[in-house]
Amino acid sequence: MSLLEGKVGLVFGVANDRSYATHIARSIIELGGRCAFAHLPGEKNERRTRKAVEGLGVSDAWLAPCDASSDQDLEDIFARYTSTHQRLDFVIHSIAFADREWLQPGKFVDTPRSAYLSAIDISAYTLSAMAKLARPMMRDSGGGSILAMSYYGSEKVVPGYNVMGVAKAALECTARYLAADLGPDGIRVNTISGGPLKTLAASAVGGIDTMLDATPKFAPLRRNVEGADVGGTAAWLVSDLSRAVTGENIYVDCGVNIMGGAV
Ligand SMILES: NC(=O)c1ccc[n+]([C@@H]2O[C@H](COP(=O)([O-])OP(=O)(O)OC[C@H]3O[C@@H](n4cnc5c(N)ncnc54)[C@H](O)[C@@H]3O)[C@@H](O)[C@H]2O)c1
Repeated sequence: MSLLEGKVGLVFGVANDRSYATHIARSIIELGGRCAFAHLPGEKNERRTRKAVEGLGVSDAWLAPCDASSDQDLEDIFARYTSTHQRLDFVIHSIAFADREWLQPGKFVDTPRSAYLSAIDISAYTLSAMAKLARPMMRDSGGGSILAMSYYGSEKVVPGYNVMGVAKAALECTARYLAADLGPDGIRVNTISGGPLKTLAASAVGGIDTMLDATPKFAPLRRNVEGADVGGTAAWLVSDLSRAVTGENIYVDCGVNIMGGAV
């Protein structure tokens, strides 16, 4: 029997074939799990997500729109999922947003209140909102695993990561508080701190190319991460092999976080 056979869940964050969420879904599917997918509202967004999902070999994918900054959209997608599925074993939160204007080295100090709040709202608060909506069905499924994507810029200053670093710190802390609240229901909540990967979201961060060039020079594993590296760890976190792991932030970054010096 495959590791994830019988497990089914909801994946947020597939924008295209390069998205971390796409790599995570691929690993889950390869190990026998099933995924339903959220996409940003709008025909173009739906088409993009559908194309990426078809690239995973899923032709009859369950897709539904969701702008995670809308409470109504979040309620609707969980209601739709609940009405069409028997169980909910995992939720993958692989979404983030910050206005790229403020993701430039030296610009953090100028971040306006609105940009600061929307970054935290979409990139961190939404994990809490999703967990609340997932809880009843996960509890009925005998427990579950909720997973969000973070980055080292939550802990150390990575020039250009700016307000997104603040949002990731909030995300990691949110995961810990959720883990404490939901643990008694058998629901685990963890974050993966992934290394830099060239995706749509990453291209908004000024300095991403410098990070990608520098990492192979000083990372203990002497390379950048690949999507499948994060996919594998995500699949483990979804699986029962990680059944006693909750509230953790797990680095999948070729060891960069253990090194002193520049990132
Ligand atoms: N790429 C990297 O270097 C890297 C490193 C560590 C962590 N991460 C994190 O991984 C996650 C996925 O990002 P990615 O790099 O795969 O980029 P991506 O652009 O492929 O994915 C970002 C996703 O966020 C979604 N999103 C943005 N605003 C949304 C909203 N209001 N409602 C619903 N969805 C919304 C987008 O539709 C997209 O699917 C993010 O949390 C990102 O911060 C990325």
